[in-house]
Amino acid sequence: MKFSELALSRFSVRSYRKAPVPKQLILEILESGRIAPSAVNYQPWCFVIVNEDDRKKALREAYPREWFKQAPVYIVVCADRGQAWMRNRDQKNFADVDAAIAADHIILQATELGLGSCWVCNFDIEKCKAALNIPDFTEPLVIIPIGYSDEVPKAKIRKPLEDIVRWNKF
Ligand SMILES: Cc1cc2nc3c(=O)[nH]c(=O)nc-3n(C[C@H](O)[C@H](O)[C@H](O)COP(=O)(O)O)c2cc1C
Repeated sequence: MKFSELALSRFSVRSYRKAPVPKQLILEILESGRIAPSAVNYQPWCFVIVNEDDRKKALREAYPREWFKQAPVYIVVCADRGQAWMRNRDQKNFADVDAAIAADHIILQATELGLGSCWVCNFDIEKCKAALNIPDFTEPLVIIPIGYSDEVPKAKIRKPLEDIVRWNKF
C-alpha cells in the first residue's frame, strides 16, 4: 500500500469483531513503534500491551464506553518526561510529542496489517495507572484499542488546505 493510501484508509474504529489479534501481528506493530523518531533519539516511551482478561476489565474502567470493551487487545503508550529531551531556552519537554509519534507509527502499522484502532486520550489517568501498575514517573498518553474492524470506513472530514497552509509567511 502506498503511504497516501494508508493514511487515507486509517480511521477511528469504534466497533470491533471478537476475533483475537495474532501475537505476531502485535509484535510487528510494536516494532514500528520502536523505530519511531524522537528528540535527540531519547525514546522516552514505553508500550504496555493489555491482552489478559482481568487487566482488560480493569483498563476498561478507565474509559467506560461500550464500544471500547469490544477490542481484543490494547496498547497503552506511556510518555516518560524524565527521559525526554527538554529545549533549554524555554524548558519545553518533548515527551508527549515523541510518544505521540510512536503511537502514530503503531496505529498506521496496525492499519497496514488490516487492523482497526482508535486514539483514546479522554480516559481516567489514575484508573489506567492503577489497572496496569504504571509507576508515577511515566504517564499513559494514549490507549490504543486494536482489533478487526466491524465498521465501514468513514469519509474524512478535514479542513481544506487553503485554510491551514500559509506559504512563506503566516
Ligand atoms: C490526540 C487524540 C485524542 C483522541 N481521543 C479520543 C477519545 O478519547 N475517544 C474517541 O472516541 N476518539 C478519540 N480520538 C479520535 C478522534 O475523534 C478522531 O481521530 C477524529 O475525529 C478524526 O476521525 P478519524 O480518526 O476517523 O479520521 C482522538 C484522536 C486524537 C488524535
